Amino acid sequence: MSTSTNASTDLLTFRGSSLEVRDLTMAFGDIKVLRGVSLSIAPGTTTCIIGPSGSGKSTLLRGINRLHEPASGDVLLDGESALKVKPDVLRSRIGMVFQHFNLFPDHTALENVALALRSVKGMSKAEAKERASRRLAEVGLAERADHRPRDLSGGQQQRVAIARALAMEPEVMLFDEATSALDPELVKGVLTLMAGLCERGMTMAVVTHEMGFARRVADQVVFMDEGEVVEAGKPADLFDNPQSERLQRFLSEVL
Ligand SMILES: Nc1ncnc2c1ncn2[C@@H]1O[C@H](COP(=O)(O)OP(=O)(O)OP(=O)(O)O)[C@@H](O)[C@H]1O
Ligand SMILES: [Mg+2]
Repeated sequence: MSTSTNASTDLLTFRGSSLEVRDLTMAFGDIKVLRGVSLSIAPGTTTCIIGPSGSGKSTLLRGINRLHEPASGDVLLDGESALKVKPDVLRSRIGMVFQHFNLFPDHTALENVALALRSVKGMSKAEAKERASRRLAEVGLAERADHRPRDLSGGQQQRVAIARALAMEPEVMLFDEATSALDPELVKGVLTLMAGLCERGMTMAVVTHEMGFARRVADQVVFMDEGEVVEAGKPADLFDNPQSERLQRFLSEVL
């Protein structure tokens, strides 16, 4: 178990694991997309990954939970090589939330959360339902458990996707532009939910264009360009005192 119940709030507290990426290279055919990326995320901390389109941010997250296999280098989850863990098991230990929520359209919110608990965790129907209900309540969707995705707002659908990932009791959560597809008025609620996970001890790697969120919530910001980490450090250092010309240019375009 990577989690325990905090009785006063009845919210789960998480025991996030450390995540270390060592000299990771990834390629699509002959095209090198990551060129030796290294970064280290301490347990229970949040790292925001920023950078221009095509810099390799999504590829990095996909390499970390092996949706695409790295060409070389290593990923250490709690000190153990993620490349040696079975992909299914790895993906229950490292949850991922995408820009497009990837929910099953013909299943209710509750079923979307419960399905993987049945298939991956092997829970009984009743157990899975009980756990899924709790996770939905935690993301503020107790009332919407029986709705299908099309009857939920984008923000609510993204909450279901987050509840689904959390239901597996992961040690690390990866977010790939989780708010980019949302209407502006729904962004804040999802960002607040994400910030809450971090406060409850989850280890998080968050690819985001929300610079305000990165500045406020991140323990570390990593700036990537052309498949490399160009700068990494405290948000105030990167945003207020960027060292490289590339980061200066990027910030002048996005801020
Ligand atoms: N499946 C694929 N096949 C071939 N090339 C790919 C594939 N996926 C990504 N790439 C290429 O890898 C590079 C990095 O892409 P990636 O999606 O990681 O960038 P990103 O930083 O996430 O960009 P964005 O901010 O637009 O999401 C790009 O040049 C992209 O065209
Ligand atoms: Mg991307």
